Amino acid sequence: MAIETIQLDALQNGSPQKDEQTRAWCANLEAGGILYFPQTPIPIPPSDLQFLLGQQQTGSRLHKNIAYKPDRDQLSGVDKKTATPEDLEQLHAVMRRYSTSVDNFLAGFLTPYKRRWRLDYASFRPLEEEGRDLPVRRRNDLLHTDAFPTRPTRGWRILRFFHNIHPTRTRDWVVGDPFSKVVKVFAPGKLATPKPDSAATRTAKQLAQSSGLASLVPQWKRTPYDEFMMQLHNTMKEDSAFQASCNRENVEFVPGSSWMVYTETVPHAVLGGQYALEQTFLVDPAAMVTPGSAPIAILEKMAGARLA
Ligand code: SIN
Ligand code: FE
Repeated sequence: MAIETIQLDALQNGSPQKDEQTRAWCANLEAGGILYFPQTPIPIPPSDLQFLLGQQQTGSRLHKNIAYKPDRDQLSGVDKKTATPEDLEQLHAVMRRYSTSVDNFLAGFLTPYKRRWRLDYASFRPLEEEGRDLPVRRRNDLLHTDAFPTRPTRGWRILRFFHNIHPTRTRDWVVGDPFSKVVKVFAPGKLATPKPDSAATRTAKQLAQSSGLASLVPQWKRTPYDEFMMQLHNTMKEDSAFQASCNRENVEFVPGSSWMVYTETVPHAVLGGQYALEQTFLVDPAAMVTPGSAPIAILEKMAGARLA
């Protein structure tokens, strides 16, 4: 695992980034690296920051998984029974601003991708991560690769941009070996090598999707690629021998820092920290600088067939 530290002046001097530099940043991300900005390139307006950090005082008035959905301009996860309409409106505006600014920043930073991504959800994570009591599959303190149970990506990559907005505390992560290595620990063996759906399964899934039934049974929305990635996420968290023995490296993200990483391929866990903002991008695997590094490419090679 490689962390590449990027200082802000690397972005400021010289107007457009040199092609070679931006391609190297993309290649590093695609190979399982983390791009780390000790000082975030996306400063949050002080009043927005104050508001977000102030959620501590108001305690449980706001829920834990606060998500902003840019495509619908919708906020979810807020307890509407206890949050005041003013709180809701302000949180919505803060998240909307954050989401837009990360999208704009990445468009100018990861230029080789030419914005071939879908802007996915943004999240606000106000809870202390240390000692959270969650069922195994929902625990984020166990190493895992990300997969969304109800939102299959069909081979598109999950790129996440984080910001530790806590004024004094680090956000403490553990990261593991990149996908190309870690996948061999699980497949074939603990997980079957993925294989394409049979004609009958494909037809059944298409029917379920067109009738709307797929929203009741999320598996019917998944391609063989998504099914594998979901199982990898679950199996990794449930495999205590893997958790105890895999290669791991601790990383501390300082207050005010940002970082980005392809979380569907880099095993990661958060051990401690409070107050983070995050924006997810679903990136077209065809936009990769090194297309062979995309998990869909690696799995299709293993399977000898198309999986999405
Ligand atoms: C995760 O994606 O597993 C959690 C990362 C974080 O909240 O820092
Ligand atoms: Fe995760």
